[in-house]
Amino acid sequence: MLGDDKKIILTGDRPTGRLHLGHYVGSLKRRVELQNSGEYDGIYILIADDQALTDNADNPGKIRDNIVNVVLDYLSAGLDPDKVTICVQSALPALHALTFYYMNLVTTARLSRNPTVKAEIQMRGFADEGLPAGFFTYPVSQTADITAFNANVVPVGEDQLPMIEQAREIVEKFNRIYGETLVLPKAVIPENETQRRLPGVDGKAKMSKSLGNCIYLSDTPKTVKQQVNGKMFTDPQHLKIEDPGHLEGNVVFTYLDALCTDRHFADYLPEYSNLQEMKDHYVRGGLGDGKCKKFLIQVLEETLSPIRDARSRWESDIDAVYDILNAGTKRAQAVTEETLSRVQQAMRINYFEDRTIVKEWEKMLKEQKNL
Ligand code: TRP
Repeated sequence: MLGDDKKIILTGDRPTGRLHLGHYVGSLKRRVELQNSGEYDGIYILIADDQALTDNADNPGKIRDNIVNVVLDYLSAGLDPDKVTICVQSALPALHALTFYYMNLVTTARLSRNPTVKAEIQMRGFADEGLPAGFFTYPVSQTADITAFNANVVPVGEDQLPMIEQAREIVEKFNRIYGETLVLPKAVIPENETQRRLPGVDGKAKMSKSLGNCIYLSDTPKTVKQQVNGKMFTDPQHLKIEDPGHLEGNVVFTYLDALCTDRHFADYLPEYSNLQEMKDHYVRGGLGDGKCKKFLIQVLEETLSPIRDARSRWESDIDAVYDILNAGTKRAQAVTEETLSRVQQAMRINYFEDRTIVKEWEKMLKEQKNL
């Protein structure tokens, strides 16, 4: 199949805020591993500022500010600009053109069925206020993002699976109508179930800025401690240490499921050799929430403190960050323009590449006259 000879990754984020632990365990960590695997011919990370505008049209300043926050989070988490191309969506006009063509290959009925978009429409109150057409159609623009880079691998969080499904349908339709042109993408989601969907510290399904239930990669140790000790939901029936504890919905254990390894026990809590032993003790009774939280904070800090240190180094050189973004975007321009030109060729709307169309038009006009 087209693109089988190369392994190319495209993924991205909307720059609507700083990245949090949910982003880290759900995708960022994986990206760094993929980057270091040396198995890929190209890795592109898109800062989807145009997509972010589809529900922030009145606040472009917020998006502008968060572009730098997201790049800082990327670099601090270990994405290496020598190995990955970080680029800005709005500076890639080929994506807009592709979106416009793909828009004709999907029905409004199909777009209405996208479960992630449906949930987002509810969450944002668009169902009552009126739904911006740009927001409704962003899965089409996301298809443009993916196909423009010829990506066959798209590492994303679970909530993005419907987007990749739609992208695949559009690609198949395009190739059927215009000939084999676009690479069929595949989603890759984390294997560990809790990593796919890390809840907020309060136990709500998702970390969200408005709920104040996030742990940001750039949070200070003090804030992390406050979020865990002050807000993290455990087991409301576990009042005394001796009481038997429950694990379902217990966020401390959900986070440990996502983050801790046996080695963390050896280093910080050697009375257990693994998480199962700790859980068994908690369920039996006799293990207090305070001790569990203290361990979780140690595990969290092991992940967060190198990221935090790297961020403070990058923050002192925003010029360098700008240059990385600029250079990445230039490389991305070349790749996406190339795809657009292949697409226009496949659709035979590449009128001004050469004058072959003149001969064709002449022939057609002659035939028209003889009819
Ligand atoms: N929709 C994605 C999110 O909200 C961000 C995104 C934009 C993306 N373009 C993409 C993800 C292309 C993967 C591929 O997180």
